[in-house]
Order: sequence, then structure tokens, then C-alpha cells
Amino acid sequence: MNILLRKWTLSDKDSLKALCNAVDRQYLSDRLPSPYTDSDAEWWINMVTEAEGKTGLFRAVMVNGQVVGSISVERKEDVYRIDGELGYMLLTDHWSQGIMTQAVAQISRLAFELLDLQRISAHVFAPNIASAKVLEKNGYEQEATIRKGAIKNGKVYTVLRYGVVR
Ligand SMILES: CC(C)(COP(=O)(O)OP(=O)(O)OC[C@H]1O[C@@H](n2cnc3c(N)ncnc32)[C@H](O)[C@@H]1OP(=O)(O)O)[C@@H](O)C(=O)NCCC(=O)NCCS
Repeated sequence: MNILLRKWTLSDKDSLKALCNAVDRQYLSDRLPSPYTDSDAEWWINMVTEAEGKTGLFRAVMVNGQVVGSISVERKEDVYRIDGELGYMLLTDHWSQGIMTQAVAQISRLAFELLDLQRISAHVFAPNIASAKVLEKNGYEQEATIRKGAIKNGKVYTVLRYGVVR
């Protein structure tokens, strides 16, 4: 399968809105607005365009010319600026075809090269086995078990911290 990561532009507003309104949010941050509006999409694309290459890399995951997901690495602040936080999401119709495994491989390589990081971190809710597998298949190691680390829809979760070093 041909999986391409490309930068977001304002012409992706509708695709981004469709993605964010359709994605399975069970294990995602509450920072993602719901419902996701035109102005949310416009604000976010402008924000990532400004930050691109400086404080992060933000990419649309493209399969057969369609936006099917989103992936990013964002640089942490202060003394943690040698560390980047990886995040991703994929439309449910495209799960379990190896798409995010390839996307993580591509963005991890790019982030080490372009953001001059020493490590990349990812945080996964313990029941999100598919996400943990994506990381493990890319050489990320489980470094910590954060008990009662997050709350989502009223349920408290153990969070697993994964990391890969340069
Ligand atoms: C997590 C997510 C990105 C995975 O993307 P994907 O493209 O389906 O992942 P891949 O196909 O590359 O790899 C997933 C692996 O997990 C396996 N898997 C999927 N569901 C599973 C389950 N319930 N139990 C065990 N294994 C599972 C797949 O078989 C595959 O492993 P394999 O390659 O050994 O067969 C996708 O499910 C998603 O977007 N979820 C919603 C958003 C989210 O949770 N983001 C991550 C937050 S940390």
C-alpha cells in the first residue's frame, strides 16, 4: 500500500473536519473539540503551519489520494525540548492494514532528522492494544506504567509511556 505523509494546507479543511468528526475517540485526548467545526479546522491548520519544522511536524496520512488520518510529533518545552510527543489517529475503515505502523516509521525518522530530538515519547491508554503494537513494531519500548494516569468519559485508565531514543 502506498502511504504518504504530507503537510496540511487550508484546502484540507473539509477532510480534517470529516476525520475529526468520524474518528474513534475512546482513547484520545479531550483537547480534540467535539463536534469539530470549520473554525476548529481552520484554527488548527493555521497553528500547525506556523509551528511546522520549529516546534513540531504535523502530517496528513494519505492513502490513494485521500486523507485517512493525522500524525504529529510535537517538541516538548524547557529542559524536555530534546523530547517529542508522538500522536496519531486513523479512520476506522482503514484500521489493521499496517497504515499507522508505516506512518509512525516515516514520521519518527523525519522528526529525528528535522527537529534534532534525542528521543520521542508516546502515551497509550493500556487497553489500546493496536496503538501499543504500532509503537512496538517501530522499536518503541514501554518505559513506564502510569497507574490512574488519565480519565476519559468518567473512566480512569492506566497509561503506558513508550519511548524510542536516537
Ligand atoms: C491506534 C491506530 C492508530 C492503529 O492504526 P492501524 O493502522 O490500524 O495499526 P496497524 O494496522 O499498523 O497495526 C495495528 C496492530 O494491532 C493489531 N490489533 C488491532 N486491534 C487489536 C486488538 N484489539 N487486539 C490485539 N491486536 C490488535 C493489528 O492486528 C496490528 O498488528 P499486526 O500488524 O501484528 O497484525 C488506530 O486504531 C486508531 O486511529 N485508533 C483511534 C485513535 C487512537 O487511539 N490513537 C492512538 C492514541 S495513543
